[in-house]
Amino acid sequence: MEKRLYNFSAGPAVLPVPVLERIRDEMLCLPGCGASVMEISHRSKAFIAIQEAAKQRLIRLLNVPSDYDVLFLQGGARLQFSMIPMNLLRGQSAPAQYVLTGSWGKYAIAEAKKEGATEVLYDSAATNYDRLPSDAELKIRPDAAYVHITSNETIQGVQFQRDLNSPAPLVCDSSSDFLYRPLDVSKYGLIYACAQKNAGPAGVTVVVIRRDLLERSNANLPGYLNFNNHSKEDSMWNTPPTFAVYVLGLVTEWLETTVGGLAAMHKINQEKAKCVYDAMDAFPELYQGHARKEDRSLMNATFRFPDEATEKAFLDQAQKLGLDSLKGHRSVGGIRASIYNAMPMEGAKLLASFMKDFASKRG
Ligand SMILES: Cc1ncc(COP(=O)(O)O)c(C=O)c1O
Repeated sequence: MEKRLYNFSAGPAVLPVPVLERIRDEMLCLPGCGASVMEISHRSKAFIAIQEAAKQRLIRLLNVPSDYDVLFLQGGARLQFSMIPMNLLRGQSAPAQYVLTGSWGKYAIAEAKKEGATEVLYDSAATNYDRLPSDAELKIRPDAAYVHITSNETIQGVQFQRDLNSPAPLVCDSSSDFLYRPLDVSKYGLIYACAQKNAGPAGVTVVVIRRDLLERSNANLPGYLNFNNHSKEDSMWNTPPTFAVYVLGLVTEWLETTVGGLAAMHKINQEKAKCVYDAMDAFPELYQGHARKEDRSLMNATFRFPDEATEKAFLDQAQKLGLDSLKGHRSVGGIRASIYNAMPMEGAKLLASFMKDFASKRG
């Protein structure tokens, strides 16, 4: 078999090796089923147990209160950009407020505008999305239909590492930092995340929603787009993405039993990010960080070089060491090291030592 690389891709992203091994072992024959998980009915006892176990693990990991539901949907986080305003904004008297701290927030508000009134509550465009607002900068309307934030802006690498207090329902796109730390779910009205960065493969999107918000959905919404159908049918209104849910279940099992929960995962994530940022900060003229220090993401470290030739040399040499997919998003360039939950500590350490080496050799 070829050697695995240290995969710094922003998503779809690295998965825990024990999870991949388990998938391989169960690929032909899921225990007790005589077939793979992709070949059995979603209404079979075996699959219902898999989906329910994944849901219960998420509830335990995130300490989800009982007045919330956890849904497994399709269409990625992008569908949620539309589905959330369709369900929570249509018919409301006050606008939805959006906090724009990077590209994904901008994409989200563009879709919401098609559904109803929106307001920009904060926008860091003037500083090229390098920062987050303080609490004092967020003048949230208590009557807002909801307030939307992107907890981690994957492209710019800025991350809210705190749970905001909001008098209006707080809606959070947590696609690129889902399950990276313990969360106070009770402070949110709705949390959503596509799985393919921190929680599994592409194909399933998790929505954690406070049940009272389900009452807002208009019965005339197209069936798939109405949260109530998914809630009432336990995410079986239509055929769920069975393989993706199965893998998400294995990732959450790994988080619970191997890592030891989200507090332990958070500590590891802090250590990995510190490793990379310390290497960056040791050579500030070479590694020019995009995000303001206090707003840096633990998941996506972004920086640029003084010139393109240096960037190319860095990427070429990194690749030779097995440090893969470090190129930044096409819209901002530079380097983006995505150090999600499943990136092993050795990967972060190897990247940091290469960064120090590369900088020292250039003098
Ligand atoms: C923060 C954030 N939101 C939304 C998305 C879009 O997710 P999807 O491609 O699953 O629709 C991404 C993914 O790339 C993301 O990083």
